[in-house]
Amino acid sequence: MIGSDQKYAAELLMQGELVAIPTETVYGLAANALNEDAVINIFEAKQRPKFDPLIVHTHDVSEFEKFAIIESDLVYQLAERFCPGPITFILPKRDIIPDIVTSGHETVGLRIPNHQLTLDLLKRLSFPLAAPSANPFGFTSPTTALHVQNQLGEKIPYILDGGKCEVGIESTIVKVVDDEVEVLRLGGISVEEIESVIGKRVKRVKTSSSNPTAPGMLSSHYNPGVKVEVGDIEKLLSEHRNQKVGILAFDNNRYESFENVTEVKVLSPTGSLSDATQNLFSYLRDFQKSNIEILIAEPAPAKGLGLAINDRLKRAAAK
Ligand code: TXA
Ligand code: MG
Repeated sequence: MIGSDQKYAAELLMQGELVAIPTETVYGLAANALNEDAVINIFEAKQRPKFDPLIVHTHDVSEFEKFAIIESDLVYQLAERFCPGPITFILPKRDIIPDIVTSGHETVGLRIPNHQLTLDLLKRLSFPLAAPSANPFGFTSPTTALHVQNQLGEKIPYILDGGKCEVGIESTIVKVVDDEVEVLRLGGISVEEIESVIGKRVKRVKTSSSNPTAPGMLSSHYNPGVKVEVGDIEKLLSEHRNQKVGILAFDNNRYESFENVTEVKVLSPTGSLSDATQNLFSYLRDFQKSNIEILIAEPAPAKGLGLAINDRLKRAAAK
């Protein structure tokens, strides 16, 4: 059921049930992070392997110390600038966080989502919420309540509808190690923004499917349900002349007139990286419904949020 009754959502969560929640990034599939049985339901509903840890959501930085140990002031500097917002901190965990949440790792991911409905919900609860993106494992993340309903509706008692997600891709995941900031996943806060706060370069931890210590980095992820290739549109079009092609362009739709092009979507006609980010997942989803054999996607400019867009496109295209 979809609705906007925050009180009902809180009651379900208190009973150990699952509720899909809106955030500024993507919808999450939430349960009481301190209740193991409730958390197991998340893994089952998503068909998510137990080795892939969950992010824990709370409403204020002052809560972080309850769940994790903060050793570096850089965490507070970043939190002051970006929280609530699309950033997740990987921190040494305290015992109160069950091992199932962190897949047995000694660290926990903490984040404060910037969505009023969910912040109010978190304030109402006496526990934090474990929540991965509310999609079946390996698929594109949902950015509307309807996206959640279509894929997981039957497995979730309630979807709290907070409208369309403003940011549209997941949080940036950071880990502070020996006063260096490592970025484990590109996301809604750009590397440049983080560097401007800490006054030095961050370290990018490379995507690898052979590195299960950071499963968010599995190379094949974000399956949009249609075959995707990323690159120069005209070159790829000439390679797929005999197929029905969909095009996901960054900022212009001059490809509409090409013969075998069935549908064109433009991420941002004005070339805005944040508009493009917001549209990315929902446009990828829409192509599932169109009658195409292959989706050709154009990379975004390789700076700021464009790097996160290109990361998601690359993974959507991974076999
Ligand atoms: O924006 C977001 O982060 C959304 C919303 C719902 O908050 N959540 C989200 O969750 O994207 P999920 O589960 O789809 O992706 C979280 C990623 C996982 O791939 C997991 O591997 C990584 O975070 N992660 C969580 N805890 C971790 C830890 N202790 N160490 C390393 N990676 C961790
Ligand atoms: Mg996910």
